[in-house]
Amino acid sequence: MSHNQKSFLLRFILIILVLLGSLFFEPTTKAIAATVYEQRQIHSPDGIGKYYMKREIAKVMGHTGAGWLERPSRETEEQPSKVVSLLNLQPDDVVADIGAGTGYLSFRIAPLLPKGKVLAVDIQPEMLEIIELFKQEKNITNIEPILATLTNPNLPSASVDLALMVDAYHEFAYPQEVMQEIVKALKPGGRVVLVEYRGENPFIMIKKLHKMTQKQVRQEMQAVGLVWCETKNLLPQQHLIVFEKPA
Ligand SMILES: C[S@@+](CC[C@H](N)C(=O)[O-])C[C@H]1O[C@@H](n2cnc3c(N)ncnc32)[C@H](O)[C@@H]1O
Repeated sequence: MSHNQKSFLLRFILIILVLLGSLFFEPTTKAIAATVYEQRQIHSPDGIGKYYMKREIAKVMGHTGAGWLERPSRETEEQPSKVVSLLNLQPDDVVADIGAGTGYLSFRIAPLLPKGKVLAVDIQPEMLEIIELFKQEKNITNIEPILATLTNPNLPSASVDLALMVDAYHEFAYPQEVMQEIVKALKPGGRVVLVEYRGENPFIMIKKLHKMTQKQVRQEMQAVGLVWCETKNLLPQQHLIVFEKPA
């Protein structure tokens, strides 16, 4: 085989390999994740050892903790009815309650939306079963339970006026992917509200990984293109932080 033939054959093989590579390699969630997350062996027992923007992600609260979410003392401790009134809801709003759990917030929001609805999103089917049960018991029809995956809340695009996350965001295993999907699901000018225990205050008796500082929340929301609007420090232990998707 002549030198020219060999070099032609080599180039041919190289082109085939590149074409095959582009067929089989897709920029999957894992590939994206590898660039923004860090896994550490030594970490808090309350976390999953995975770090996003230097914050360790907390373990998910299992469905066996449903009773704690529904505890009667919650109104005094967290004032969730004040959370609802601070949301400035419109009667036709579509609200996505992401990490809805038992739907504690969803069921307080739904009656305020006579022409709208709540999309109650969670990764645990057991939580959605509880929501279905309460829906029947309370005869509420404008709550739609949605089963999410770890990376996607499965919301219809450009359909949501407000995405609410109460005490949930800090345990999302893929926060960047979930937030990117939430941004897609928001209408232009739609809002994101995060309610998290104040990480700045060491006297708030909640595990460290279940609290967040305002600085951290703002960094993580800015990373997906959301614009900070205001922080309402009117709750006993949590901040309520409001962001907007630019129109
Ligand atoms: C501490 S509970 C809070 C429930 C509710 N927001 C409340 O305040 O009563 C957090 C919930 O977030 C859910 N969750 C965790 N990761 C999630 C994800 N990636 N997408 C949707 N829900 C998630 C958990 O299954 C759990 O039900």
